[in-house]
Formats: sequence, C-alpha cells, structure tokens
Amino acid sequence: MPEYHVTTAKIGEVLLPSNQGRACEERMPGPCAFVIFGASGDLARRKLIPALYRLGRNGMLSGNFFIIGASRSESDDASFRSMMEEAVKKYSTFDNAAWEAFSRRLFYRKLDDYGDNASLARIRDLLSEKEKEFGTEGNKIFYLATPPSAYERTIEGLTASGLSEETRGWSRVVIEKPYGRDLESALALNAFVLRNFREDQVYRIDHYLGKETVQNIMMFRFANAIFEPVWNRRYVDHVQITVAESNGVEKRAGYYEQAGILRDMFQNHILQLLALIAMEPPSVYESRLVGDERVKVLRALRHIQFDGVDGSLAMGQYVSGSVDGKVVPGYREEEGIPSGSNVPTFAAMKVFLDNWRWQGVPFYLRSGKRFPSRFSQITIQFKQVPHLMFRQTLGPEIAPNALIFKIQPDERVQLKFHTKNPGPRVCLRDVMLDFSYAQGYEGVMLEAYERVLLDCMLGDKMLFVSSEGMELSWSFITPILDLVEGRGVPGARAPDSYLYRAGTNGPVEADRFIMNDGRVWRNYG
Ligand code: BG6
Repeated sequence: MPEYHVTTAKIGEVLLPSNQGRACEERMPGPCAFVIFGASGDLARRKLIPALYRLGRNGMLSGNFFIIGASRSESDDASFRSMMEEAVKKYSTFDNAAWEAFSRRLFYRKLDDYGDNASLARIRDLLSEKEKEFGTEGNKIFYLATPPSAYERTIEGLTASGLSEETRGWSRVVIEKPYGRDLESALALNAFVLRNFREDQVYRIDHYLGKETVQNIMMFRFANAIFEPVWNRRYVDHVQITVAESNGVEKRAGYYEQAGILRDMFQNHILQLLALIAMEPPSVYESRLVGDERVKVLRALRHIQFDGVDGSLAMGQYVSGSVDGKVVPGYREEEGIPSGSNVPTFAAMKVFLDNWRWQGVPFYLRSGKRFPSRFSQITIQFKQVPHLMFRQTLGPEIAPNALIFKIQPDERVQLKFHTKNPGPRVCLRDVMLDFSYAQGYEGVMLEAYERVLLDCMLGDKMLFVSSEGMELSWSFITPILDLVEGRGVPGARAPDSYLYRAGTNGPVEADRFIMNDGRVWRNYG
C-alpha cells in the first residue's frame, strides 16, 4: 500500500518549493561587450548600470564581459566608475567586493558628438583592445540610451565606423523608447534602423515586458487548465488595466512635453499588457510564436471612431495637490514645463478587440501621474452568476467574481469569490484567495531591466517588440494623438480634457464613461 501524506495548505500557501515540481531553464549568457551610448544620462545611472551590476553580483554575467560607456560628458574611466558607484549605491543594494569585481570591467570614452567619426574610431579602438583582454569573441551589444534625436546619427555612425560589423561574433542594437512620436516617424525610424541592421539584430525595449509579474500572466493563463475555459466573452464582463503612478513628471520636462501620457504609457506598456491578457495560447513557448500572438491582439484592436470619442476617451492633467502628505506642484508649475501646457498626464480609454474571443468585451485602460499611490493592476471582472437563487434571502445583487493581477508594487494574484459567513445567519462574504508572487521562493528575483538585458545577451527576443508590433500600436495611438493634439479630421470633436488634483485618481469626469456603462474603476488595495 502506498503511504499517503496529508497536506494542508493555507490560502495562498505554496505547496512545492519553487525549484520542485518543474524544471527551470538554465540561462547563462555567453561572452559579450556592452556599449552604452548616453552613459552619463539618467537611464544608465538609474537602470542600466545597476541592473548589469546586480546580474554580475548574482553570477549571471559571463566572465568574458565588459562595458564601455560613451557620451558627450567629459569623463574618464576613473570618474565614470565613481559616478556609477554612486548610482549603484543610490538605486540598488551595494556590496563592496561585488562592485570591485564589476567596476574593473567598466570603461569610458567621451564622444564629441553622437555619430562623430573620430569619436567612434576611439570607441572602436578601445573595443578591439578590450575584446582581446576579456575574450568577448567579437560579440557586442550597442545600447542607445541617448536622446531620441541622436538615434539616427548613432546608428549611422555604428555602420560607417564598422563598429557594428559582424566580422567575428554577433552584433545587436537595443533601442529605447520613444521609438518615434507617431506612426509616420516610427516607420521612418524603423526603415532607417533596418537599413543598418537586420530585424533579428534589433531589440526594441518595453521594460514592462521584463517585469516578473507581467511575464507571469502568460504562465498563469497557459500553465493552468482551469482559467482558459472562462477567459472569454461568455464569462468575462470586462477587463481593467490601471497603471497609476504617484510621482509627477520629475526632471523630465523636455521629454514629457513631447510625449504626454499617451506616448509615454499607452503606446507601449499598456498595449503590451493588453496583448498578454488577451492573446491566444501559442503552440510552443518560443519567442517568435509568442510575439506573433501578441501582435495578433494589436491587429484586432478596434480603432476609436472619430465621431465616437465620447465615452471612449478622457484626458487629464494634474494641478497642485498633496501626495503622501506632501504638497506637490501642478504639472504646469513643474520645472521646465510651460505655464500654458496642455500635455495630458492622465488618460482613460475604453477599447474593444474584434475577434471571436473578446467580441463586445470592453477593456478599460487607465494611466496617470500623481495618483495617491503607485499601483499597477489588471482586473478580469467576471459576469454575474446566471441565476440569483439567493435573491429572496440576500437581495438582488451578488458582486461578481474577479481575478486580479497586481503587477506592482505589491506582486500578487488574487481571486475574489463568495463564501458563507460562519454563524446562524445566512449571509455571504467576499473573500480573496491571495497569492504573493515572492512567497515560498528564495531564489533571485530579476528586476525588469535585468531581465531584458539578460535576454538581449542571450539573443532571446520574446520580451521585445517586433517591427510589426511597434507599427500596429502606433497605428492605433496615432489617430488618438491627432485628435488630442488638434490635428484631427475636420469636424471631429477632441476628447474631454479635465484638470485633476494631485493625490486623486484622475479627474472625476473620467469615471463617467465607465459609470455610464454601469461599472466602476477597481482598486484592490
Ligand atoms: C517609463 C515612463 O517608461 O515607465 C515613465 O517613461 C514611467 O514616465 C515609467 O514613470 C514607469 O515604469 P515603472 O517600471 O516604474 O512602472
């Protein structure tokens, strides 16, 4: 007779340690050189160098690896290292020995300008010297963390100087957002990039795809049999995606004035979240097939009608208010923002997907700066039970079930359902089945940039945006931008735009279209 063990699990408890039950894929990158253009900028200091440092500290970089920082700032190896040390201390946990080992692989060259021949020749010389020293076998990644206006010059320079030639190993280019500012400019940039690099060499970053909880959406949906049967228009009433931030525009006035919330958050991050929630299961978990399924969702997006913006779109901009008990300035009072700026810092929209699975199911998308707190959540709101058999006893309403993906900062998956309240009275209570993502896991958690940088070194493009994906998301957003920015079709009405107080959930008027549909925004705290 086999011996049976009785297992009792509390709600949310992980039954098997994370390394049991399933094999994990080992992912160790091979040799490569990493060249960062724009290395003295914000992105390199906040994200790239801390991410690379942590990968190194956790033994996830090849021993044959080095970094060259390049930008227009006056600096040398020593001062670059100490600037990056400060950055790592500020934006990461710090370990002296790990930093010592990492910083020996860090070098710097000043550029007279991006794309400048003589400057790039200096980078080339340094690259070939260090390639020999570190044994990187001619593999190299060029990361464009420059202002977007320097992308083309840099790319052209990479080709003209021979830096990107694949004489021995491979060469890849990573391009940050904004990838264009509308469909036309994005297509022009893409055509330019593809005249210099093959599509398989181009890595278009959307760091949201690198977030653990975002990747988990696919695992959750397709590694469990019980959710897919209800993941469709028969059972789902609607979906909400909220990416809320408590911070304001910070020191990025120049960029944000050009971008606004639609380019900054919707064209990329939010549409990618939508794609992961709505996609069909690919036949194999493989980069190309997964990417294709995400693209199909973007292709099914119904374009917002010019005469139908009412109820589909609401925009907002924050005015002074208080966040975390501190008084904060309004958008127009932020450093570098013109006092008459109409750039939106909030948007809410209702979109539909024209396909079999999702026909008629609204997806409510919302994002804004200066919310009371930072939270990103996706709620799958299921339909009411088909028949209210408790009507006589419990009243006419039973709140429907909901599945909530908490993307950040609290990383959870929750299922809301009803149980009987204990005791003699007949009453229901709402309860949450609650899974904390880190629970029962003691291994390394990768921050989004760590994950995408690692994947780039591995040549895995699953978490990057393809040419087609980029084009489709711009095709959807550009007509909306045209309306909002006053380039709309003659006679088309611009969407409503409202001011909202910092420290609130956006303009109250933006709730109107969801309330008109008999629904409310959810924030499962
Ligand atoms: C960036 C946007 O892409 O994402 C920022 O440009 C935004 O405006 C940021 O603050 C949010 O990223 P995260 O990872 O902090 O949610």
